Formats: sequence, structure tokens, C-alpha cells
Amino acid sequence: MDKNPDRVIVVDDELNQRTALAGIISRWGYEVKTAANGTEALAVLTSFAADVVVTDLNMPGLDGKGLLEELQKLPSPPLAIVLTGFGNLETALETVHQLGAFWYLEKPVHTPALQMILARAIEKQRLATHAVLLERELASRGALGELTGDSPAMREVFYLLQQVSPTTATVLITGESGTGKELAARTIHQLSRRRNGPFFAINCAAMPESLIESELFGHEKGAFTGAVEKRAGCFELASGGTLLLDEIGDMPLNTQATLLRVLEEGKVRRLGSVREITLDVRVLAATNRDLRTAIGKGTFREDLYFRLAVFEVNLPALRDRREDIRNLAQGQLAALNRKHGCRIAEISREMLELLERYDWPGNVRELRNVIERAVILAGEGSIQPAHLPRGFAGRPEVPLPAGAAHALEAGLEPGMTIADAEKALIELTLKHTAGNRTRAAELLGISPKTLFNKLREYGSAE
Ligand SMILES: Nc1ncnc2c1ncn2[C@@H]1O[C@H](COP(=O)(O)OP(=O)(O)OP(=O)(O)O)[C@@H](O)[C@H]1O
Ligand SMILES: [Mg+2]
Repeated sequence: MDKNPDRVIVVDDELNQRTALAGIISRWGYEVKTAANGTEALAVLTSFAADVVVTDLNMPGLDGKGLLEELQKLPSPPLAIVLTGFGNLETALETVHQLGAFWYLEKPVHTPALQMILARAIEKQRLATHAVLLERELASRGALGELTGDSPAMREVFYLLQQVSPTTATVLITGESGTGKELAARTIHQLSRRRNGPFFAINCAAMPESLIESELFGHEKGAFTGAVEKRAGCFELASGGTLLLDEIGDMPLNTQATLLRVLEEGKVRRLGSVREITLDVRVLAATNRDLRTAIGKGTFREDLYFRLAVFEVNLPALRDRREDIRNLAQGQLAALNRKHGCRIAEISREMLELLERYDWPGNVRELRNVIERAVILAGEGSIQPAHLPRGFAGRPEVPLPAGAAHALEAGLEPGMTIADAEKALIELTLKHTAGNRTRAAELLGISPKTLFNKLREYGSAE
């Protein structure tokens, strides 16, 4: 099959150099156009979708660095190979590190090296394009990355995520607990050019105020009592990648002020240090609180809200997109079968109906837990309503298979010891799992080893 040749733009202010280089590159089978500076290159790009730009650095008008900066703003930029003057290593590294150039070569250009690097750049572009196409295709089939969803509400979310991911915008992800905020943040990272960099999530609610600033910004040795070693903060650790400020609505007001300053200045200082470190981090924030209400109550800074909510993505509650429940539930079976060594073939129709009717206050997380528990309980065949947790709306009051539910109640009575009750529960659970100890231990929330030890105590280990 004939394939369109890959496209390259050669940018150099010296006519002889650019024509010579363009000639060589086109002999390697590429389609080549030339430009005398950055502005011309950008103009060529509007009608010539280049895969790679080979550019000189020093040029009158928009120079190489300026061009690289402009390229970064494009939705799907070509890769840049930078040609630098001899001995200009520092500038060269800067273009690669800070301006996202693919590679640099010293002049005069060693053509075999250029040929190899060009081929690599093209290959990288091809893989990236392939990945994007794959993601698009998946999104239209009810999934984006690890996010599942075919409801109009989730399709809208996927669309927003796809639009915002390749940009550098700060994104505020909102939604009730368990709706997939963290997963959405990871998806943004995966769909961005930072995907090969680190992804860091810090939970702003789980930490005392005194620790959170040191976690975020790092500290020097002796910055405060207990700071025995110097330590990098999350902003530094996520450098080159993405930082998720999770549960941002629970961040103490003082910390909010510091955070705002860091975001505005684009620089961070470790506690107890005067040295400023320039940020290279995409910031995402997530919360299940209504920040506008928090602003009204004075617990969240309005200016920080506007800084973070440049782009807002709200994940709908599961009860508002019931058509996703079936796919979310069924989509987990294969992985859960593997995880627990089970052989569940399907979820029964009755069970699916109950799942679709339930309100899911804990959203997707609760659904996942309910399915996981049911898979362990059932072990094989199909999942039935009887495998739902006690008290689950619509769960039938029928005894569990093997008639075990009543046995437990019958076995429990005031006056018996905890040890006796424990033994009864263990025996009951083993009956449920048809003697499968790994699954029983899982249901009981203990390790298989602990279970084995207890059985040995009862003299029923073998
Ligand atoms: N659309 C989805 N498709 C598949 N799995 C999902 C989806 N949404 C959430 N999950 C899964 O549900 C669980 C909870 O998701 P996550 O931790 O992202 O929720 P959250 O909104 O951050 O919750 P919280 O507010 O409690 O922190 C995770 O196991 C996640 O993988
Ligand atoms: Mg979360």
C-alpha cells in the first residue's frame, strides 16, 4: 500500500544551509518544506502538517526557542530537532529539557546521526498518533483509558477530558465520593505529553496542617522541630509530570494562601530555604465538596478557586447515569476472576435489575465492592441477588446457598464466648465458599495464614 511520505520542515535563516539540508532529507524519502525563521515555519505548518521540524536556534525574527514555545501550544505539535552552534551545550540542553525539543545536534550536522534521529522522531510520532486514534476509538465505544461509561453524561466527561488533557491548564475535578475523580486525574496525565513523567497524588485532608506544607513544598534539615533530614516536596517530586491535589476542599486556609502564591509565581521554596525552584508541574485538583459553598462559609479562598478551576470537570453520580451500571459491573468480572481464582460467567438478570435500581451513595467504588464480594461468595456460575450484602435494597430474604444464613444466627447466643462465635463464623464462611480457604479468608478480612492457624487451633486444619 502506498503511504504518504512523512513530512519535515527545515528552518534556517541561511538559504544555502537550508536548501542543502532539505535536499539531503528529501533524498531519504521525506516530503520537505523550508522556512527562514520561526514565523515562516508556523505559517508553513498551517497548510503542511509536518511530523518533524528541524530548526536552527539563532535566526532573525522568531528564533528557534520562540518557535519551540509556539509549537508547544499546538494541539498536536510536530517534534523538533534543534541544530546548535558548536560548544553551545547548555542552550541545547535547555531546548530539550525546558522547551520540549526531541533532540539536538551540533553543527555542522553529521548527516548519518540526523538520519537516525529523524527516523526515531517519526517513529515516536507514529506511535503517539496511533495511541490518540486508539483512545478516540475507545472513547466512542464506552471507555477512555480505564474509565468506563457509555451514558451521555460520561461521554460528555470523556470529551472534556480529551480536550483538556493535551493542554497545560489546571483542572478541577469535582464529584461525589467514589465517582472516579482520581481515575479521571490519572487519565488526564496519561493523555497528556507528560505521560512519561511522574504522577503524584497528595491527599490534603489526611494530614495535619503542620505537615501538609512540608509534604507539598519540602523542607530543609532543621526547618522545624522534627525535620531531621531535608526532604523534597510533592511539587518537586512531580517535576516533569502531574500533581493531583486531592481533597483540596479540606486544605487549611493558611496552606491555601501559600499554595496560591506558589501557583501564581510558578516557583516553590522548601520550608527553611531561600532557594527558589521553578515549577515544571501540571496541577490538577479534586474535591467532593462544593467549593462555592465553602467560599461562602469562608473555608475556601475564592482567588484559589479561580486559579484552580480554570477548567472544571464534574463526574456525575452513578444514580444519575444508571445505564452505565451494567457495563461497570460486568466489566470487572474478568479481572476479579483472575484476582480471586473464581469462575464467574455472568451476573444474573435479577441481580442486574437490583443493581440498576439501587441509589449507590458510594458510587462506582461501592459498586466495585459489591461485585467483588459477590464474586468471592459465588465462586463460579452466575452472581445472584443472594450474593448481595445484607441490607442491600431489594436483596431477597432467602437463605444463602447451603442454607447457611440461619445457621449463623442459630449458632450465636448471649453467653457464648467471642472465641466460640469466631469459630462458628469461620465454619459458616467455609461452608459458603465450599471449603475454599483463600476465598474464606478474604471474606473474613484475615490472611490465609491466620485462617490456617485458627483452623489448626480448632483441630480442623486438614
Ligand atoms: N468510570 C469508571 N470506570 C471504571 N472504574 C471506575 C470509574 N469510576 C471510578 N472507578 C473505580 O472506582 C473506584 C473509586 O474511584 P476513585 O478513587 O477515582 O474515586 P474518587 O472520586 O477519587 O473518590 P473519593 O472522593 O472517595 O476519593 C476506583 O477503584 C476506580 O478505579
Ligand atoms: Mg479520590
